[in-house]
Parts: sequence; C-alpha cells; structure tokens
Amino acid sequence: MGKILVTGGAGYVGTLLIPKLLGNGYKVTLFDRFMWGFKPILHFASNDNLKIIKGDVRDKNLIAEEVKKHDIILHLAAIVGYPACAADPNRAETTNVSGTRNICDAISNNQKLIFASTGSTYGKVNGICAEKTPINPLSLYGKTKWEAEKIVLEKGGVGLRFATVFGISPRLRLDLLINDFVYQAYIINK
Ligand SMILES: NC(=O)c1ccc[n+]([C@@H]2O[C@H](COP(=O)([O-])OP(=O)(O)OC[C@H]3O[C@@H](n4cnc5c(N)ncnc54)[C@H](O)[C@@H]3O)[C@@H](O)[C@H]2O)c1
Repeated sequence: MGKILVTGGAGYVGTLLIPKLLGNGYKVTLFDRFMWGFKPILHFASNDNLKIIKGDVRDKNLIAEEVKKHDIILHLAAIVGYPACAADPNRAETTNVSGTRNICDAISNNQKLIFASTGSTYGKVNGICAEKTPINPLSLYGKTKWEAEKIVLEKGGVGLRFATVFGISPRLRLDLLINDFVYQAYIINK
C-alpha cells in the first residue's frame, strides 16, 4: 500500500478519514498545526502506521520535505469557512493559497494530489449546482479555495468540491449549517 500525507489531518474531516485509511492498510503521515488541539486524534495516535508532524503548510521547506516522501497527498489543511477567513484575511490567504502552492511546487508527476475544495467556490446558485456550474465565489473563503484549486488543477491534481458536511466528528464543528440546526434544536428543546 502507498504512503499518504494528510495535511489538516487533525480537523473535522481528517480525524474521521485517517482511521479509515489506516484500517485499509495505508501508512499515513498526519501533518497539522493543531489549531484545535491534540485531543481529536488521541484515539488513533498510537497506530504503528501513523506518523504525526506538528507543522505549518506555509513553511515551504518543511512541507516540501514531507511531500517528497509520499505517494499520495490529501490536502485538507485550510482556514475553513467565511467567519474564520474574514477574522484574519492574511492568515486565510497565506494558508489556503500559499500553503497549497507550497505543496504543488514540491510535488512531482508520479505523485497523486487530492485537494479538499468546496462548494463555496460556486457562490449563489439558482437551481441545481453541478460540476459545470460557473464558479463565482462570494466570500474570501470561497475565493481563496478557488485560487488554490486552480493551482492544484494546473499541477494535474484533483479538486473535490465538498458540500457542507454534517454529523459527529472527534473535532466537532458546530459552525456547519446542519450541525448548527441540530445543536440549536437540542438546546432550545432542553
Ligand atoms: N467540513 C465541511 O463541511 C467542508 C466543506 C467543504 C470543504 N471542506 C474542506 O475540507 C477541508 C477540511 O475541513 P474541516 O471541516 O476538517 O476543517 P477543520 O478546521 O476542522 O480542519 C482544518 C485543519 O487544518 C489545520 N490547519 C489550518 N491551517 C494550517 C496550516 N497553516 N498548516 C497546517 N495545518 C493547518 C487545522 O489545524 C485543522 O486541523 C478544508 O480544506 C475545507 O476547506 C470542508
């Protein structure tokens, strides 16, 4: 099985994805700056096939060194969502765009790159949103993710434009629309 580098692996998506990758026999490196702490990864942190690196994708040399050691790069690390990006636009830009560029600069043709893009790249859509729906990001989050996706696509990588995810994760996000509805309903009915 191949070696996979998961940036942002300590987040909402990564903490569910990595145990599945390990369960399927992959060797995984989790690369994250741990904005949400270490607790969300404790249930799989001792796995022999897992290496953990506390690092920042904006550190060009460090991320380049790690990219080179892996067959597949799953790039999840980002400042996620409109409020978090608006709170610190420079951090959003440097993380989401420059961080992605650092990965793309280091990758070679025989490596695979999968990028967690977002449905926020489409902006406001009337009717059904499909892959060919024109891109028109409205928020800084959507704009930085679209800039990053273009860099990934130019390098021959894949961009997956997730819709808003929902449900439980070790790094629980209650800022996600459906999770917020459920949380509000629970609190109001308590
Ligand atoms: N959750 C969703 O509904 C959703 C929807 C669409 C797209 N996405 C995309 O999926 C990816 C994962 O989202 P999530 O919901 O798990 O978010 P999250 O905030 O829970 O996880 C992001 C992770 O990235 C890490 N990170 C942030 N800046 C970093 C940096 N400079 N260097 C290294 N690590 C850094 C954080 O510490 C965090 O663990 C993101 O790229 C996001 O844009 C998520």
